[in-house]
Amino acid sequence: MSDHRLSDPTHVVLTDEGPALVSGPVEIELPDGGRVRSDRPVTALCLCRRSRRWPICDTSHRTRVREPAEEDDR
Ligand code: FES
Repeated sequence: MSDHRLSDPTHVVLTDEGPALVSGPVEIELPDGGRVRSDRPVTALCLCRRSRRWPICDTSHRTRVREPAEEDDR
């Protein structure tokens, strides 16, 4: 039996530009009940839903679509 009170909390960093960075191995449960496991030291979870590897970030969030108001500022 594990005692979560004695273990270190999972460290999660929410970034301004896209993913949530989760420390340690993670198992992600998807809405359809599927599971994705990552054994990386830090896993970038896609929050923008543009990743072709969703739920893992593939940096697609960097492809930014210009807003119409920005187009008018030129
Ligand atoms: S947050 Fe990076 S692709 Fe979605």
